[in-house]
Amino acid sequence: MAGKQDSVIIAIDGPAGAGKGTLAKRLAEAFDYAYLDTGTIYRAVGARLLDTGASASDSAAALEAAHNLDPRDLERSDLRREAVSGAASEVAVQPAVRQALLEFQRRFAACPPEGKAGAVLDGRDVGTVICPDADAKLFLTASPEARAGRRHKELQESGVESIYARVLEDIKARDERDSCRAAAPLKPAEDAVTLDTTALNADEVFAQALRIIAEITGRTPIQQR
Ligand code: DC
Repeated sequence: MAGKQDSVIIAIDGPAGAGKGTLAKRLAEAFDYAYLDTGTIYRAVGARLLDTGASASDSAAALEAAHNLDPRDLERSDLRREAVSGAASEVAVQPAVRQALLEFQRRFAACPPEGKAGAVLDGRDVGTVICPDADAKLFLTASPEARAGRRHKELQESGVESIYARVLEDIKARDERDSCRAAAPLKPAEDAVTLDTTALNADEVFAQALRIIAEITGRTPIQQR
């Protein structure tokens, strides 16, 4: 594994729609750390596969897409589409794909871009596999209904047509696939603090996360120093 070096690492894991991205971005801004949405990497591999017309379960094609991943793929505007979400979840079950994407994520955490002093990574296995030595680990969760409601609203607001019942069905299917796969299944690290966000708004989640991080690491956001 890449050495942890001096970078401060905050790992945020949890299922789709638990609020990881919103929280991780706010934390990165508050601490002036770099931010990596690790799901984007799997989405970019899924999108590449859809482009080629290959099935997401075609492991040779998925591995080739992972090896050929271009950092510009992470900027694609179609990565939140439901078809891409499904393909991402399917390529993510494949151990060879996960291995191919591991080093990129560890390097980002250990040596954040732009000389930042730390990194916030969100995903499914950041605290368990990518950065087991992270300084603080949070596991965000919420009921499937609350998560589907948020994802549905997010899609509608971004102009994507969405049906709540379909989103809920997709969320449950992805939960099942992400949690039951053999390779790096979705689960809290033993030393992660679990935060149930079902009844919390984004500000409340942020406040609780800051309190937990301060307790674990003694670190506070730059504005509060
Ligand atoms: O967080 P997200 O919805 O953008 O993630 C898309 C898919 O990628 C998700 O179904 C599971 C997978 N994923 C993963 O397996 N490991 C990660 N660290 C991040 C995402």
